Amino acid sequence: MKALVTGGGGFLGGAIVRQLRERGDEVRSFSRGEHPELAALGVRQFRGDLVRQQELFRAADGCDVIFHVAAKAGIWGAHEEFFRANVTGTENVLGVCRAHGIRRLVHTSSPSVVFPGGDLEGGDETLPYPARYEAHYPETKARAERMVLAANDPSLATVSLRPHLIWGPGDNHLVPRIVAKAREGKLRRIGDRPCLVDTVYVDNAARAHLLAADRLYPGSIVAGKCYFITNGEPIPLWEMVDRILAAAGLPPVNRRISPRTASVAGVLCELLWSIFRLPGEPPMTRFVARELSTAHWFDLAAARRDLAYQPTISLEEGLVRLREWFRGNGESGTG
Ligand SMILES: NC(=O)c1ccc[n+]([C@@H]2O[C@H](COP(=O)([O-])OP(=O)(O)OC[C@H]3O[C@@H](n4cnc5c(N)ncnc54)[C@H](OP(=O)(O)O)[C@@H]3O)[C@@H](O)[C@H]2O)c1
Repeated sequence: MKALVTGGGGFLGGAIVRQLRERGDEVRSFSRGEHPELAALGVRQFRGDLVRQQELFRAADGCDVIFHVAAKAGIWGAHEEFFRANVTGTENVLGVCRAHGIRRLVHTSSPSVVFPGGDLEGGDETLPYPARYEAHYPETKARAERMVLAANDPSLATVSLRPHLIWGPGDNHLVPRIVAKAREGKLRRIGDRPCLVDTVYVDNAARAHLLAADRLYPGSIVAGKCYFITNGEPIPLWEMVDRILAAAGLPPVNRRISPRTASVAGVLCELLWSIFRLPGEPPMTRFVARELSTAHWFDLAAARRDLAYQPTISLEEGLVRLREWFRGNGESGTG
């Protein structure tokens, strides 16, 4: 198989690339930056921006399948930036599939596309998209997902995967953010409800992408569908945070604020960052306050049935690997 992975130098994209290479597939990666570790894996790198279709067109020439993993993630930033990377970028990927006659597209979506702002417990793929979103990331990811699924037809088979809270060694988002905030003494538990959340170990999420690609062809059972991808082991959110901190050699979080205080802080931070155009991301937003104080875990039945997906690395095993990774990075555990 000749595969193009957009964002092959990223956290999830890198794991997908490694698994494809391990089984002997020919792999190309497309991203703006240079990712030297990919060259060592025998991956051909194409540099470009998703918003420039011509660059993408060159990278995809001769490929059998595209894994569209690249996206702009984050809790803050201009709507236009999210829109360009996530919506225009996905439109361009679809255009390139059509132009080259590529018949398979595996898209990485996110469960946040159905986050209604309250608890989501055991929901499945029939959950509706909410009428409005509190952040640009889920809104633009939802637009992209809907475009990808609507594009499924007899000449192009598409599937969208929704991995939830990906973590593991090499994480450049969730784990370092938690660790950095804990070190600065800025982490607070939000509320005292033991809200269950799903997470997924990075290699399990990557494996789901390969399984989806292998089962994807026009008219197949997975074509035109979306799937939640998790470890299938919901855990109280703050217990997971404490376990990640323990893997980094840090104490658990003890300080606590109420969901209402977090939400008010989110509103104030959003106002301050908007009015004064402060640099970086605000420490709290309404979206984050809700995400950290509500349950969100999903029914894995569809992925198990249609993709034969099994989370082979358990939470326990993943945490052991995470601890080893921190140790390998020295006592500081900064990753
Ligand atoms: N991490 C999670 O918990 C999580 C959860 C649910 C869904 N997801 C989804 O999973 C996917 C991968 O996430 P990740 O955590 O692996 O993110 P990541 O490490 O930031 O990787 C994203 C990659 O995309 C590339 N990229 C970003 N914008 C681009 C653009 N405009 N043109 C070309 N390349 C671009 C980046 O490389 P360059 O900077 O070199 O361009 C980067 O390597 C995303 O679609 C995300 O929405 C992630």
